Amino acid sequence: MTAATAAAPLSAPAVRLAGVRLDRGNRTILRDISLSVPVGSITAVLGPSGSGKSTLLSTLTGELPPVAGQVDVFGQAVPERSHALLEMRKGIGVLLQGNGLLTDLTVAENVALPLRTHTRLGDALVRRIVDFKLNAVGLRAAADLYPRELSGGMARRVALARALALDPPLMIYDEPLTGLDPIASGVIMSLIQRLNRTLGLTSIIVTHHVHETLPIADHAVVIANGGLVFTGTPAELENTTDPLVRQFLRGEPDGPIAFDAIQRGATA
Ligand SMILES: Nc1ncnc2c1ncn2[C@@H]1O[C@H](COP(=O)(O)OP(=O)(O)OP(=O)(O)O)[C@@H](O)[C@H]1O
Ligand SMILES: [Mg+2]
Repeated sequence: MTAATAAAPLSAPAVRLAGVRLDRGNRTILRDISLSVPVGSITAVLGPSGSGKSTLLSTLTGELPPVAGQVDVFGQAVPERSHALLEMRKGIGVLLQGNGLLTDLTVAENVALPLRTHTRLGDALVRRIVDFKLNAVGLRAAADLYPRELSGGMARRVALARALALDPPLMIYDEPLTGLDPIASGVIMSLIQRLNRTLGLTSIIVTHHVHETLPIADHAVVIANGGLVFTGTPAELENTTDPLVRQFLRGEPDGPIAFDAIQRGATA
């Protein structure tokens, strides 16, 4: 547990957004977002490309402060001051689409990076933690390989091990399945589920891979047309009659979701 979680009230959700509006430049990307993510849950954030899923994540990490509304992580407002923000960020593990592995470092050195940057742990302890994290993603044997020697699925798992290095209580995944085949996708999804359960994490998965993600999710939200258009369980999502949500789930080009998000955003 981090300092950020220790001070939080017991009942606080892992993430809470209330009336949040997010702008990029002079465009409003998302408005009136209210959302509560319970501790220990897996929440799928779904929505068409360009709808603002990654933008939503960037406000949780403090990268994009909201123009209006409130964003809390473990009961505390996401700080704007850089030192406090840095402290809070240690409690959030982020897996980005591009993996972001450093090509001239080995797998083990990549996973060790957050420990070397943010802690003063000695070499022997760092090695043990790295070993443990690689074991957690099933890649202990790959410790001395370089990123170029890994398959896409292995590289994603190394990035996952690195995101877990500081034992963050909250994990956020931005499109964790991009570029992976169905088998590697299944491995990643079950790993996300298993880590959430065994390590007692809270996970937020941003994705347009609806059918791969819903089976492991406790909650689903759909964003489209600049706001939240659905909040509920995966079963409720599958049964929804909302034409906008149905259009997204079926991947239909025609319907209430504006196809050209940039046009829509420009007039927002
Ligand atoms: N750094 C930025 N500066 C300006 N506009 C941005 C920036 N990042 C995103 N946008 C705009 O915000 C809107 C939402 O983008 P975002 O990346 O959040 O969508 P997304 O739902 O994650 O899409 P995808 O599924 O394709 O990843 C888009 O219209 C995009 O052009
Ligand atoms: Mg995105």
